[in-house]
Amino acid sequence: MTFVVTGGAGSLGRHVVTALPGAKPVSRATGTDLLRGTGLGALRADVVVHCATSFRHEVTMARTVLAAKPAHLVYISIVGCDRVPLPYYKQKLAAERLIANSGTPYTILRATQFHSLLRKMFDNLSKLPLMLVPAFAFQPIDEAEVALELATLAQAAPSELAPEMGGPEIREATDLARIYLAATGKRRTLLPLKAPGATYRAYRAGGNLTPNHPVGKRTFEDYLTA
Ligand SMILES: NC(=O)c1ccc[n+]([C@@H]2O[C@H](COP(=O)([O-])OP(=O)(O)OC[C@H]3O[C@@H](n4cnc5c(N)ncnc54)[C@H](OP(=O)(O)O)[C@@H]3O)[C@@H](O)[C@H]2O)c1
Repeated sequence: MTFVVTGGAGSLGRHVVTALPGAKPVSRATGTDLLRGTGLGALRADVVVHCATSFRHEVTMARTVLAAKPAHLVYISIVGCDRVPLPYYKQKLAAERLIANSGTPYTILRATQFHSLLRKMFDNLSKLPLMLVPAFAFQPIDEAEVALELATLAQAAPSELAPEMGGPEIREATDLARIYLAATGKRRTLLPLKAPGATYRAYRAGGNLTPNHPVGKRTFEDYLTA
């Protein structure tokens, strides 16, 4: 079987490339632009693991990948993209539906937020002495573990919607921020931030969590202190 990984140099994709024998990474850096439609010949493979992403054009990207007609398309999506009304999540859900209705054999894996995303978020929030942290919980997961699962799914028969993948712990963002501060030696005052609106309510209700699928092994603390 031949494998192509779109976004193969991204936070997730680079681990998928490592985990899949002979997989070829594809992105703008390698001459393929999924939005401009250039270098699409590089998508030719039995299995395409689609990890490239675009905040505004996720559906267009998925359409381009489908046009390459892989025998199996593996797509990474997000837990709660059908519950949290963020514009990006709406795009993920629309891309899922496009793939499911395309006739292309597919597997979709929904994962919770990656450890690297939370670390980036806290890096940014900790630029101020008063650290405003969302007043809801996360279930962060190690993207290397998600990549291993994607690699397993890519080597198996298409299974449509795979079981969700959540991190080992559900923790309030303020707890995770404390772990981040301890690991980085920073001293900040934490302030839980509540917000109006449907998106905040959906997060606050746990729309981004998958409590029945705490399958990841590595905690955020382990990740930061590794
Ligand atoms: N981050 C999270 O917490 C999380 C959680 C669950 C699911 N996911 C999903 O996991 C996937 C990967 O996320 P990530 O954090 O690894 O993203 P990332 O690090 O931002 O990587 C995205 C990749 O997409 C490529 N790309 C962007 N625009 C492109 C274009 N026009 N044509 C071709 N390639 C393009 C980029 O490479 P070039 O710049 O070289 O083109 C990059 O390698 C996304 O679908 C995301 O929704 C993420």
